Amino acid sequence: MFQKPEKKWTKVLSQPFEKQSKFLNKICKVNRRDALILNERYFDGLSFPLVGEIVELVQKVIAAGEFDPSFRDLILDRLLRVIGIEELYPEDYEDGNECNGDDDNVIFGENYHVYTACYDDLDILVNFINSTDGISNLCDLGSGSGRALFYLAMKVKKELNYLGLELVDERVKFTNEISKYFSLDNVRFQTCDFLEDPQAFHGYDAYYLYDSVGTENVPHLIGHFKNLIDDGQKFYLFFISGWDEIMLSALNELDGLKLVEGNDSHKQEGRVVNIYQTL
Ligand SMILES: C[S@@+](CC[C@H](N)C(=O)[O-])C[C@H]1O[C@@H](n2cnc3c(N)ncnc32)[C@H](O)[C@@H]1O
Repeated sequence: MFQKPEKKWTKVLSQPFEKQSKFLNKICKVNRRDALILNERYFDGLSFPLVGEIVELVQKVIAAGEFDPSFRDLILDRLLRVIGIEELYPEDYEDGNECNGDDDNVIFGENYHVYTACYDDLDILVNFINSTDGISNLCDLGSGSGRALFYLAMKVKKELNYLGLELVDERVKFTNEISKYFSLDNVRFQTCDFLEDPQAFHGYDAYYLYDSVGTENVPHLIGHFKNLIDDGQKFYLFFISGWDEIMLSALNELDGLKLVEGNDSHKQEGRVVNIYQTL
């Protein structure tokens, strides 16, 4: 008889590493067309803390060389339920997901991953937040599919309040559904144009930015940060650059803000994971 996924995983996680790895390889397979095949039934009905433990296991199995690392982010996305989101990013998406008619699901390629930071880069932020006092809330300006906030909420070892502000209402609905699914009262998303409504992000201990505005709007957003600094607000600013040199220069030159940690991005050469702090 089929065992409930939560029960099955709990059992697997209590077993020796060898058995855990074997189970993971049984439910996540890479086919001859280099597509990831997931046995879907083991990815639903899981609690958020259990997902956190499974993510640790996936990372352990990959570190042991027992699973192809290039599929790690797709597996983590599925565990966090940040999937099926191509329709939320319509203009650049061409190939749809292809289902093979049963419980398994085939996921192709990178697709929307251009819009989001990689988990390795987010780990830099996780480590910083875990080792820094005084961060009790964080605002993602342009939260998109929510991938960054859900990952942070899972990995950060303290209970922060997270707010994602996002222009596209469908993305907000999608991300709030995930929060509801996992009963995450501390992770919420709001439809908002943060350029027009800077009050919406006033008073946070930390801000996260990943290519949130077009280059033409960089001065507008930087102006809001300048106002926060001039008002005496103290905060951290996490900036992961996908392409945005103009935002990077503007942050580096913003009076009252200093770079406390500069890292190379794991995702793209020449890109950065920068952590700033107000003086
Ligand atoms: C590149 S995505 C980043 C997604 C997310 N932060 C992550 O790291 O996974 C940028 C998002 O910012 C949103 N955005 C752009 N301008 C905005 C604005 N003025 N107010 C709110 N959201 C905005 C876009 O709709 C898009 O979903």
